[in-house]
Amino acid sequence: MYTDEQWIQWFDKLAEDDFVVVDDFLSDEQFSLIMKFFKQAEENDHLKKAGIGTSGEFQIESSVRGDFIYWLDESRDTQLAAFFEIVNDLISKLKRFCFLSLSGSEFHIAKYPEGSHYDRHLDQFNERSNRQITVLIYLNENWKKGDGGELVIYKEDQEIVVEPIAKRLLLFKSDLIEHEVLRTDVPRYSLTGWLLHQPASVGYLI
Ligand code: OGA
Ligand code: NI
Repeated sequence: MYTDEQWIQWFDKLAEDDFVVVDDFLSDEQFSLIMKFFKQAEENDHLKKAGIGTSGEFQIESSVRGDFIYWLDESRDTQLAAFFEIVNDLISKLKRFCFLSLSGSEFHIAKYPEGSHYDRHLDQFNERSNRQITVLIYLNENWKKGDGGELVIYKEDQEIVVEPIAKRLLLFKSDLIEHEVLRTDVPRYSLTGWLLHQPASVGYLI
């Protein structure tokens, strides 16, 4: 668990730059727990081709986004209790120190097979605009330059490249940060989530 001072330092950066990168955010223990879960999900064939927006658009999406995902469920995925503890800590600190009115979250694990990418986009879709903060945790041990799969953040005229190295956390403001996953030349693993500012169902009414 991190101290309030540490959280505040990260949130200050998030407030100022609209994103923050934290290296070695996960402990070795947390990392292996998540990887164990990931391997099991792969073995059990839980990962499915991801889509965007409504399911009707599914066909166009392969060229846009090539990852395979599995949505997590806090009450079902009890092996991930330690992970959800971190998420809940993150949410309560954001509420307390950034006065965000967060009322839920959604997380999935994601695997980008060799040769896949995700085109430049914003994480808020037209019919669903309640994603407030994007949370990314990278899980690629031994990632090296040339493996690809970097995340590019587009901010004003800057392009900030984030390498998807194991245990690294990236937080950004979902409504502001356009981003892209470059083509990966090796299988690329991550845990992705969104902190929501109202119940998801309300988003669909707007
Ligand atoms: C996403 C996304 C980025 C990443 O799932 O919306 O942009 O680095 N992922 O995996
Ligand atoms: Ni995204």
